[in-house]
Amino acid sequence: MDKVDEKIHELEQEIKNHQAMKELDKFGHSLMEKPLSIEAQKIFFATMRDFFKEVPGGILGLALQVNDEWEKIEPYEATHKASYILFADVDELGLQEQHKGILPSHHQLFRDLCGHLGISEKDLGNKKNILEEGTKLGIETYKYYREKGVAKGLGFHLSSETTSNKEFNHFLNGFKKYKQHYKIKDDKDPVLDFFAVHTIVEPLHKANGKIMMGIYLKKNPQKMKEIREGALEFMDGFYELFKALNNRLYPEAS
Ligand SMILES: [Fe+2]
Ligand SMILES: [Fe+2]
Repeated sequence: MDKVDEKIHELEQEIKNHQAMKELDKFGHSLMEKPLSIEAQKIFFATMRDFFKEVPGGILGLALQVNDEWEKIEPYEATHKASYILFADVDELGLQEQHKGILPSHHQLFRDLCGHLGISEKDLGNKKNILEEGTKLGIETYKYYREKGVAKGLGFHLSSETTSNKEFNHFLNGFKKYKQHYKIKDDKDPVLDFFAVHTIVEPLHKANGKIMMGIYLKKNPQKMKEIREGALEFMDGFYELFKALNNRLYPEAS
């Protein structure tokens, strides 16, 4: 491992050891212990929606920032560098299987899952279902991906892709465990696609983000501090989000 790889590895460890991961595991454990009532599901999905809604556009924003920064250094390489970030958005936008044309986006899959559970777009937009910690992480997502520069954005992105893998495995397992309650036919029910696709694609999203982080750091070694700042900003917000969800939805476990 060279110096840059070592630094990225250290940051990854810091992300994995962050208290947010424990809070997320606690939520996952509770999902396996007891299914969510319809009222609790409304709070869960509406709160996550306020965060998730900013992710695909945010990734587009970061890819554009990388492209524009590289235009100034190596113009013929700029779009290639942007593609490491854009890779994470191909699935979000439903572009992952070109021979099939455009597939449903993650936001559409999310809406379909909610519809199946009896949660309308109106429920998702209803302020009384939205915990403010979800809204806050959504606002940070907007800012860090689009406005705070490449270094902070790359750090934020690494944390987001790292938590996603664990997060969606917890969601998928929790919903699969109580099929009757959530009106799910079997483990392969397409209604679960929103959760299921994320358990497959996240490791590759993260791997490509890390490659770009390495390339960027080799050119700008002084930017590690900002990368770390972005990564921890995400983790802190994610911790608050899952702490709030645990407190509200599983008070007996908190
Ligand atoms: Fe997604
Ligand atoms: Fe992802």
